[in-house]
Amino acid sequence: RASNIQKVEHAISDDARALRNGHGGGVLWFTGLSGAGKSTLAVATERRLFNLGYQVYVLDGDNMRQGLNADLGFSPEERGENIRRVGEVAALMAHAGMLVITAFISPYRSDRERARKATGEGFFEIYLQADLAVCEKRDPKGLYAKARTGEIENFTGISAPYEVPESPDLVVNTTIQDVDSAVDTIIKYVKECFHAEATRAAKGI
Ligand code: ADX
Repeated sequence: RASNIQKVEHAISDDARALRNGHGGGVLWFTGLSGAGKSTLAVATERRLFNLGYQVYVLDGDNMRQGLNADLGFSPEERGENIRRVGEVAALMAHAGMLVITAFISPYRSDRERARKATGEGFFEIYLQADLAVCEKRDPKGLYAKARTGEIENFTGISAPYEVPESPDLVVNTTIQDVDSAVDTIIKYVKECFHAEATRAAKGI
């Protein structure tokens, strides 16, 4: 809506930031049903990466919806706006040099694609796969039970859709893998993705 806007160029390059941190910035975008393990794996991965010396931070749906996105509900439009804002915040943090892990259901492909575009290179979609029946059995917050009785409307998997990623960068099946082994898989992937970037930055090429 605003006009007469001009972009201000930063004085610090992405490489300079990557050199200081030992890795480039980026986004690990977790997506999956409620109860698939997004928050659990996000904080466990954050802990491990932090211990390895990464600048890392988790953005979680339940947290963001208490602050920046406290004005949003669960209609398709509001979920779209939720993911748009988070996508922009994650992109800014990634540009600042952080490794950002996001834990949002993000059920719509178009919303995830928009988030990918906001960050560009350095965005990795990680699909936490778990059958609905398994998630419903876990029901850590008792929300599936409420969704079944109609107490909660528009509940993903029950009364609202989840669009499975068509070509995710990584799939982790949380029905088969326990937390430690799932984190192992993700850490291995992160090292592969971000090592090349840090090496390139260190060489100044
Ligand atoms: S998203 O669809 O917009 O990406 P988000 O990840 O931010 O969702 O929030 C999901 C969390 O909100 C769930 O973990 C659950 O605790 C809570 N929640 C409350 N109502 C709903 C609902 N109708 N559908 C899904 N999650 C809900």
